[in-house]
Amino acid sequence: MAVEPTSVTDVADGLREVGYLPGESTALVSYLAAKLGKPVLVEGPAGVGKTELAKALSRYLDRALVRLQCYEGLDEAKALYEWNYRKQLLRIQAEERGAGWESVQEDIFSEDFLLARPLMTAIASEEPVVLLIDEIDKTDQEFEAMLLELLSDFQISIPELGRIDATTQPVVVLTSNNSRELTEALKRRCLYLWLDYPEVEHELAIVRLHTPELSETVARKLVELVQQVRGLDLKKPPSIAESIDWARALLLLGADDIDADVFRETMSIIVKHRTDLDTVAERVGVKLSDVNAPL
Ligand SMILES: Nc1ncnc2c1ncn2[C@@H]1O[C@H](COP(=O)(O)OP(=O)(O)OP(=O)(O)O)[C@@H](O)[C@H]1O
Ligand SMILES: [Mg+2]
Repeated sequence: MAVEPTSVTDVADGLREVGYLPGESTALVSYLAAKLGKPVLVEGPAGVGKTELAKALSRYLDRALVRLQCYEGLDEAKALYEWNYRKQLLRIQAEERGAGWESVQEDIFSEDFLLARPLMTAIASEEPVVLLIDEIDKTDQEFEAMLLELLSDFQISIPELGRIDATTQPVVVLTSNNSRELTEALKRRCLYLWLDYPEVEHELAIVRLHTPELSETVARKLVELVQQVRGLDLKKPPSIAESIDWARALLLLGADDIDADVFRETMSIIVKHRTDLDTVAERVGVKLSDVNAPL
């Protein structure tokens, strides 16, 4: 049975129950999206829980997740629908000689010969789904224009077949890493959620949720260190995903403290650029080896 949220707190609790710890605006925007039927555009740096939010919404709302992973050059044939040429060809070959082209044509451009891609699957689904359009900034503006049409009318026009209207309305989550500015037209149609690196307590809760076996003292030190590292001017600051990886690694290694040695040996889990490694070793690692220096 699909879940119908009745308040913001409802959504916050629901997301928490399925393993996603939402910030205040995350719960609010998710609630509005479900109620107003508007798509949500989630932007923010890498690894802050954009994709996971859509997955968590699908678990919480008890709706199937339909995912469209965007990439450069993605076109309608891979996003919307495509004719199944092979099947059409077989159908034509199986036709007895002398049969009229008219009847064959009518047949091969029917729904039986259509391959539904994620966008069509989402709007044609009998049960309402969560539609995740992941990393929309990787596509071009033409694709965005096509998407706009779909997001405002929830219908698809197929020249040979006619119009396909949405039977149910999906909750739509679009994510972007900001690699290019999205069009105003797209933004206008969406609710907007900016996900940033979380505050210490929030990140600690997320890390502890993923690695409950790690002691709280180590987890707290880990989060404080990660936040310190983020404060440096790095090419690629560590994300929540990396904090979780680091916590898992420390757990495996049985580390009961993050001292200078442990830090040096494991910091490549959170810092992944040659120059960043040097900066971090110098600015954070050295501080750790000085027992008198405050963290
Ligand atoms: N609020 C949260 N509660 C629980 N887990 C979280 C939360 N935020 C992030 N995570 C965890 O952090 C990891 C990274 O999240 P996710 O893959 O969604 O990031 P992303 O923003 O989509 O990154 P990218 O831009 O690289 O695709 C996941 O393992 C996810 O479970
Ligand atoms: Mg993602």
